[in-house]
Amino acid sequence: MDKYILAIESSCDDTSAAVFRNNVVLSNKVAGQAIHEQYGGVVPELASREHQKNIVPVVDVALKEAGITANQINAVAYTRGPGLMGSLLVGVSFAKGFALANNIPLIEVNHLQAHVLAHFIQEENNKIEQPEFPFLCLLVSGGNSQIILVKDYLDMEIIGQTIDDAAGEAFDKCAKVMGLPYPGGPLIDKYAKSGNPDAFSFAKPSVKNYDYSFSGLKTSFLYFLRDNIKTNPEFINENKEDLCASLQKTIVDILLLKLTKAAKDLNINHLALAGGVSANSELRQRFLDLADNKTKTFIPKFSYTTDNAAMVGISGYYKYLKNIFGSQSNAPFSRIDF
Ligand code: KG4
Repeated sequence: MDKYILAIESSCDDTSAAVFRNNVVLSNKVAGQAIHEQYGGVVPELASREHQKNIVPVVDVALKEAGITANQINAVAYTRGPGLMGSLLVGVSFAKGFALANNIPLIEVNHLQAHVLAHFIQEENNKIEQPEFPFLCLLVSGGNSQIILVKDYLDMEIIGQTIDDAAGEAFDKCAKVMGLPYPGGPLIDKYAKSGNPDAFSFAKPSVKNYDYSFSGLKTSFLYFLRDNIKTNPEFINENKEDLCASLQKTIVDILLLKLTKAAKDLNINHLALAGGVSANSELRQRFLDLADNKTKTFIPKFSYTTDNAAMVGISGYYKYLKNIFGSQSNAPFSRIDF
């Protein structure tokens, strides 16, 4: 019999609700929070307040669009962590209340695991090709940069991760020192399109195994700008495109070097990309270019790579199949490992 799952995501600054019939997404609504733009980053207290305003209308629209009523839902899946505590609490409290009111089970979802499982979301009348186990997933977002060995839907191992900043943070922080608004990642992508990626070179880290580090790059970028501004106050304006292209190339080089090394060492042929930074056009193109007659590459649809509840719904579905349910007494986690 078909199972209907309501999914809730509220870990950072997007309030999202999705409805699934088994592994098929019926609706996936996201309310973003423009309020943070003026502060140059997400303000946690403001994020929680916006979630409070958005959660009920977003769920309402998701149910309506799916053509499903609350009493048809078999379980409610929600992001338990990691994320901002105040933001998580809004989604967690809503999910618990919804589960109690409808007498249905709760399913706790790890936000990072959900980014990976976004590759398994299916759409009505549109079969989406999926990676085969085991595969490697490069998860790059504003808060994480990880290489994950995915052995099964719910069996994942982080084999490499950033020891300091995430790739998205590197984009955003470097954009900030150039005077670009938050989030700067998409703007760097935009300006890079008309710049020369070999105009400047920046420090690449030397980190062990499959780990990443981006704080050195950020510092080297900052010092490079500072030194050049001393002799030419217009240096950033005059070189914006080249700076963005060179910085972006460096970040993508760093990300793909470790991924290809891991794939070679572990002899894995299916590679997947996940997280908000996978929107970056150079990363997407160079990642897709890794495909050959042996290697296959996978990137989910854009709407499933940024923070969204559809990825929580698909994770909930695979947990439901294994009868892995949560508890009303469990609190959210701001930090969590698989
Ligand atoms: O996964 P995500 O939506 O949420 C968080 O983890 O917060 O990722 C957001 C991150 C931000 O750092 C943003 O600047 C970055 O993804 N990002 C991009 C692009 N689009 C979003 N970075 C580079 N190029 C892009 N086109």
